[in-house]
Amino acid sequence: MGNTLERFSLKGKIAIITGGAQGLGLAMAKALADAGASIILADINQPLAEQSAAAIAAECGVPACAIQTDVTREASANALVQAALARFGRIDVLVNNAGICVHCGAEEMSYGDWFKVIDVNLNGVFVMSKAVGGQMLRQGKGNIINISSMSALIVNTPQGQCAYNASKAGVMHLTKSLAVEWAERGIRVNTIAPGYMKTDMTAQVFEEGGEMVQTWMAMSPTKRPGEPDELGPLAVYLASEASSFVNGSVITVDGGYTAW
Ligand SMILES: NC(=O)c1ccc[n+]([C@@H]2O[C@H](COP(=O)([O-])OP(=O)(O)OC[C@H]3O[C@@H](n4cnc5c(N)ncnc54)[C@H](O)[C@@H]3O)[C@@H](O)[C@H]2O)c1
Repeated sequence: MGNTLERFSLKGKIAIITGGAQGLGLAMAKALADAGASIILADINQPLAEQSAAAIAAECGVPACAIQTDVTREASANALVQAALARFGRIDVLVNNAGICVHCGAEEMSYGDWFKVIDVNLNGVFVMSKAVGGQMLRQGKGNIINISSMSALIVNTPQGQCAYNASKAGVMHLTKSLAVEWAERGIRVNTIAPGYMKTDMTAQVFEEGGEMVQTWMAMSPTKRPGEPDELGPLAVYLASEASSFVNGSVITVDGGYTAW
């Protein structure tokens, strides 16, 4: 008997998930908790994050808490690190998941909307990686998973979302930069690039259906959006020793959308 499944275990690990109050972040937090990790939900929406943390603790039987965090603010990220260390003593896993999207043609997009999307999606990943990665460097070990998007690889259509696409492409290359800089110091950094997934971000669009959703599904070989819990097992893999030689990688979870 080998020990393959044991290498997926996150027992005793401490994991921070940004934007973990709902959607993909919550689904990945649950999966990490299922694998044994203690969970810190770092979301701007503290009341919802507290509810979600309580649900994780009850369902998975691991310590889980919510620490209000704005990923765009360095002081908030540093305060999160201090609070996490005070409670758990170390940080093993960071999932940079918080993100927003604005649909708007490029010629009509305000600088304010452009800046907001870049600030949360790209600057937020840098701010959080610097704060938490700094602690991981002091520990000599750590694991960062950045949630990019297939929009880093292709241009979605028919909707305009140039700021989102550019931000996610930035996340992809920031991932590789951090992976290269920190590989010899015990930190791995990888990206998950999801396709269209059913979450609060996209629920309304899927409910309304219409031409946009029809176009998306026609362009997908699998002809359906992903469910949030279809990301969880990959997050466990990347967070665990099972993926010990995976570094600086981009892994798409998109039902084959970017394959043709
Ligand atoms: N849903 C999809 O189809 C899809 C596809 C590809 C990639 N993604 C990416 O996955 C991630 C999660 O998406 P989702 O669909 O679950 O979104 P969502 O809107 O359901 O959840 C996003 C969470 O991020 C939090 N958040 C927003 N701004 C924040 C900030 N400044 N600081 C901390 N938290 C903040 C929100 O409060 C919310 O809980 C995003 O990065 C998104 O771009 C989503």
